Order: sequence, then C-alpha cells, then structure tokens
Amino acid sequence: MIHIEGLWAGYGGLDILRGVDLRVERGSVNCIVGPNGAGKSTVLKTISGLLRPRRGSIVIDGADLGGTPPATVLHAGVVQVPQKNALFAKLTVRDNVLMGGYIHRRRSKDLERRYGQLAEQFPLLGERPDAPAGSLSGGQRRTVEFARALMLEPKVVLLDEPTLGLDPLSLGIVRDSVLALHAGGVTVLMVEQNVRFGLALADRATVMSAGRVVLTGTAAEIRDKPDLMDVFFGAARPGERAVPERTP
Ligand SMILES: Nc1ncnc2c1ncn2[C@@H]1O[C@H](COP(=O)(O)OP(=O)(O)OP(=O)(O)O)[C@@H](O)[C@H]1O
Ligand SMILES: [Mg+2]
Repeated sequence: MIHIEGLWAGYGGLDILRGVDLRVERGSVNCIVGPNGAGKSTVLKTISGLLRPRRGSIVIDGADLGGTPPATVLHAGVVQVPQKNALFAKLTVRDNVLMGGYIHRRRSKDLERRYGQLAEQFPLLGERPDAPAGSLSGGQRRTVEFARALMLEPKVVLLDEPTLGLDPLSLGIVRDSVLALHAGGVTVLMVEQNVRFGLALADRATVMSAGRVVLTGTAAEIRDKPDLMDVFFGAARPGERAVPERTP
C-alpha cells in the first residue's frame, strides 16, 4: 500500500532522512519507533506532502506521490491526523467531525450519512454529538480528531504520536480508535513514543535512528528484542503503560 524507497529529506541545508525504505501492507497497522530526533515525524511530513523529498520515491496504492502538494496527497486518500489541540473547543463534536468532510463539498445528506457510519465505529459521536469539544477528555478529543479525518473515507491514516500528553485512562480510548480504523480496512502508519503502547497495537514495526531504518519486522519480533529496547528506550517511564493485546 505504501512503498517508500531511498527517501532523503531534510530542512534547509540539513539532510534528516538519509535513505529510508519502508513498506506498509494494505489494511495493516504499522508503528515507527525510535529515539527523539530520529526523523519519525519527518517521514510522516514527507508522505503527507508538507516536506519535499530530495531523493527517493513514495508510491501509495500505485500512485507516485513523492513531492506532490498536501492537497493532492489528501485527494489520493491519505490523511494525517494532526497533533493535539486540533479541534475547535467551542464547536460541538458533530460540527467538528462534519468539518472534515467539507473539503469535498459534499451534499449535507452525504455528510450526515457518513457521520452515521462513523458513529457506529466511534460511539461517542452518537452519544454526545452536541457536547462542545472543549468539554471532552483528552482521549475523547483524539477520537473526534480521528473521526474528522475519516469523513473523507481515506485509504491511509498517518498518526503522529496519538497518545502524546494523554492520561493513562485515555490510552484505552486511543487504542480503541486505532482498532476501529483497522476494522474499517484503513491502513495505519503511526509514530509512537510510547513504544509499549505502539508495539502492542501494531502488526509491524520499524525502528529508526539518525534518519535511517535500523530494523523492521513484526511488532512481536521487535518487542522480543530486549537489548534493542533497552538501548533505544530504556526502562518503562513512569505513567507509561502498555495496553492489552488486540482483542479478536
Ligand atoms: N522544521 C524544522 N526545521 C529544522 N529542523 C527540523 C524541523 N523539524 C525537525 N527538525 C529536525 O529534524 C530532526 C528530526 O526531527 P523529527 O521531528 O522528524 O524527529 P522525531 O523522530 O519525530 O523526534 P521526536 O521523537 O522528538 O518527535 C531533528 O533533529 C529536528 O531537530
Ligand atoms: Mg516526532
């Protein structure tokens, strides 16, 4: 689904990504992990068109998207869920979610239908449509951000640190949201600092360091490399909790 080869990208005169290769299978959940500054967010920014690659190719679902502007990437079915605080606090859950669909200027009937579909995946949408986004917990807000991104029925969702700044209780909500994406057939590529959380959710994982991929495999394989986990990530940080394995 996502096929990246020999990707170089950077800022100003500085190369950050130095020959990144990445393959993501259709319908899978993939997690990129690695130390601060490894270039994880830069990979997502380059895919979503915010940053132009200097070399290499990005092919998504057969379309060569390397160097195309963000609007074109979005049109090709690839959305990035923005970092936290991306909602309008005074608008309702419903209005925040519907906003995600306006870009295609669909008829309001279509938007309503799509909202109804999403409410089946994300119960909060049906339970509290009129709640102001500002009144929600961190995890619930993240759910609304996910749903908004899904209004366009994307094929690929990019998530940059979906658990950043969330309390332990909210981790479960984010996990359920990622699983809902997966159940809907969406291909997920996420970056996660909470390595235990990310690896518990993902099918496959990629370890990056200093702008390169240093290891790739199933999430279970990466999890089972205690040496590597210690070198890169140390012991679990206080408040960091893995969540249970995906339920069947
Ligand atoms: N807009 C920018 N301009 C210049 N340098 C940048 C910019 N964004 C990131 N960098 C640099 O690029 C390198 C990689 O950054 P990136 O954000 O991709 O890392 P990361 O792996 O996502 O790290 P983190 O875990 O801290 O989020 C870092 O050294 C960072 O300082
Ligand atoms: Mg980052």
